Amino acid sequence: MNVFWFLPTHGDSRYLGTSRGARTVDGDYLRQVAVAADTLGYDGVLLPTGRSCEDAWIVASSLIQATRQLKFLVAIRPGLSTPGLAVRMASTFDRLSGGRLLINVVTGGDQGELEADGLFADHATRYEISDEFFRIWRAAMAGEGGDKGFDFEGRHLSVKGARTLYPPLQKPYPPLYFGGSSEAAHELAAEQMDVYLTWGEPPAAVAEKLADIRARAAKHGRTVRFGIRLHVIVRETNEEAWRAADELISHLDDEVIAKAQAAFAKMDSVGQRRMAALHGGRRDKLEVSPNLWAGVGLVRGGAGTALVGDPETVAARMQEYADLGIETFILSGYPHLEESYRFAELVFPLLGKGKQGGEHSLTGPFGEVMASDIVPKTSVPNTGVPKKAA
Ligand SMILES: Cc1cc2nc3c(=O)[nH]c(=O)nc-3n(C[C@H](O)[C@H](O)[C@H](O)COP(=O)(O)O)c2cc1C
Repeated sequence: MNVFWFLPTHGDSRYLGTSRGARTVDGDYLRQVAVAADTLGYDGVLLPTGRSCEDAWIVASSLIQATRQLKFLVAIRPGLSTPGLAVRMASTFDRLSGGRLLINVVTGGDQGELEADGLFADHATRYEISDEFFRIWRAAMAGEGGDKGFDFEGRHLSVKGARTLYPPLQKPYPPLYFGGSSEAAHELAAEQMDVYLTWGEPPAAVAEKLADIRARAAKHGRTVRFGIRLHVIVRETNEEAWRAADELISHLDDEVIAKAQAAFAKMDSVGQRRMAALHGGRRDKLEVSPNLWAGVGLVRGGAGTALVGDPETVAARMQEYADLGIETFILSGYPHLEESYRFAELVFPLLGKGKQGGEHSLTGPFGEVMASDIVPKTSVPNTGVPKKAA
C-alpha cells in the first residue's frame, strides 16, 4: 500500500466553508506539511492544480531541497503548455529531485477556468488534445527518434525533431497518474496511463470503474494500476471521529453550500457530477456508504468524501479498497499539518507503514529521556547516519 498526503496550496482550515480558523498558506507552511509528510514516512504528496491554487510546479520545486524521499505528484494540463516545454520541465524536475517526480495528468473539467487560461476547447476536444499531447510527451521522454528526434503530426498538436537532451532519471519517464470518469477518460487511461486515480466513491462504484478500465486496457494489451483520493477523519474512537466530522461543517451555512453546488454544476466534469450526486447538496444524508462521509463535497470541488472512524475502522475500509485493486491512497485531513501526524501515528502502525517508534523515540517504557538513566541511541533521526556519542 502506498500512502500519499496532500499539499493544500489553495488554503487550509479547521472548518469548511468559513474563514474562521483558516490559516495562512505560504511557503513556510507548505514546507512544514511537506517535511512532516517526508519524515512521517508518507510515500508522496499530491499538489492540486487550478486557478485557485499556487502553481504546483513552483511549489514542488521549492520543496525538493527540504525533503529526502517524498515524491511529488505534480499536474500537467495538456493544452496549457506545449508538449516540448512540459517534457523539459518534467525531465529537469526528475533529475534535480533524484527521481521523485510523478505526473498527474489533468485534462480539466471547468471550461470557464480553462478559457480564462486561454484554452478554448470542449470536453471531447480536450481529451483529443490530451491523447495527442501524451503520445508526444511519452515518445520524447523515452528518446524515440534518437538523435533526429521524434516527429508527430496530429489534429491538434504537431512536433518536429522533439527530443530530450537531458533525459529523466526514471525510465522511460516518470509514471503518469490520471483521474477522470468520462468514457473518454477511461479510454485515455487504458491506452496511455500508468495509474488510474478515482475520487472516493463507495466501493461498489469504484469496483465498476476499475473493471471498465481493466477491460479497456486489456484490449490495448496493457495493465493499469489504481489509486484513490480520500479525506480522512480518524480519532481514537468512532464517536470522536463522527463528532469531528460534524465539527468540520459546523460553521457552514446553506447559502454557501448552494453557491458551491451551483459552481460545480457549471462544470463539464463527469467525475465532479458523480461526487455531487453522492449527497445532492443535502447535509442530512452524508454517510453514503459505511464510514464514507460526503460532507467535504458540500463545498469543496473535486475530492469530496472522507473515511471517518477509529484507526481500526479506517484501516479496514482502506483494506476493502485495496482488495478491489487500489494500491495508492492519496489522503488529506483538515488542518493538513496536524492531521498528517494524527493519521500517521494512529493508522500507520496498522498498515505496516512509517517509522514504528522505537529507536528514535524519546519517550517509551522508560519515561521521558531526561528522567531516566537510558541514554539516547546514537544514530541521528532522519538520516540514519551513525554518530559517536560524545
Ligand atoms: C485524484 C484526482 C486528482 C485531480 N486533480 C485535479 C486538479 O488538481 N485540478 C483539476 O482541475 N482537476 C483535477 N482532477 C480532475 C480530472 O483531472 C479531470 O479533469 C476531471 O475529472 C474531468 O474529467 P472527466 O469529465 O473525465 O471526469 C483530479 C481528478 C482526480 C481523480
